[in-house]
Amino acid sequence: MTPKKKLRLAILASGSGSNLQSIIDQCQQERLDAEISLVISNNPAAGALERAKQAGINNICINHRKFDMREEFDQAVVAALKEVGAELVVLAGFMRIISDVFLQAFPQKIINIHPALLPSFPGLQVQQKAIEYGAKFSGCTVHFVDGGVDTGPIIVQAVVPVFADDCADTLSARILEQEHKIYPQAIQWFAEGRVKIEGRQVKIENSGTLKSTLINPPTR
Ligand code: GAR
Repeated sequence: MTPKKKLRLAILASGSGSNLQSIIDQCQQERLDAEISLVISNNPAAGALERAKQAGINNICINHRKFDMREEFDQAVVAALKEVGAELVVLAGFMRIISDVFLQAFPQKIINIHPALLPSFPGLQVQQKAIEYGAKFSGCTVHFVDGGVDTGPIIVQAVVPVFADDCADTLSARILEQEHKIYPQAIQWFAEGRVKIEGRQVKIENSGTLKSTLINPPTR
């Protein structure tokens, strides 16, 4: 039997890279029909680069500080992505805004994970903002990247409760655990060709229907 063709991923990360690690792990366990062809970080000190090295994955740092213009940085990133033939660009804690140069090079092929239930709390420090706002639920969102900040069509979300004694760290940890589940799942849906985008709606072919609802604090 000929082996299944694997989806060629490129992963962009600025920080510790725990989401990257969850994707590496699932690729290694052959739970994803995907392979990571390149990891790029804009931050030379990113733990993500170290994780890629440890896993023997092609990795480069393209330091945004070395470019005068956002578009020039994006052009360098796009060139690296094209060179490896990336089919899906996965932003995993990549703390840079994407310009049109980048978006047009990979139309509907760039996805992001955000640690909040979009459209609530786009932007930065969103776990702290959810606590301060008094939200009873938070979570994470995998979405397509468009020209706005965390505004693209939503692919999948996971919900977690916010507890009365939460701080940003405890809530972030609870959300991160779900990020590590839904991001690999979303990638697998792409690999299986099940993600259909119709305007703002994203449909996952043959996905089940969620039957339960959540109430926080719980009713008696
Ligand atoms: C994750 O919580 C991710 O959702 C968030 O950064 C963290 C990266 O963690 N991304 C954003 O806030 C994007 N706006 P990681 O480096 O351990 O994967």
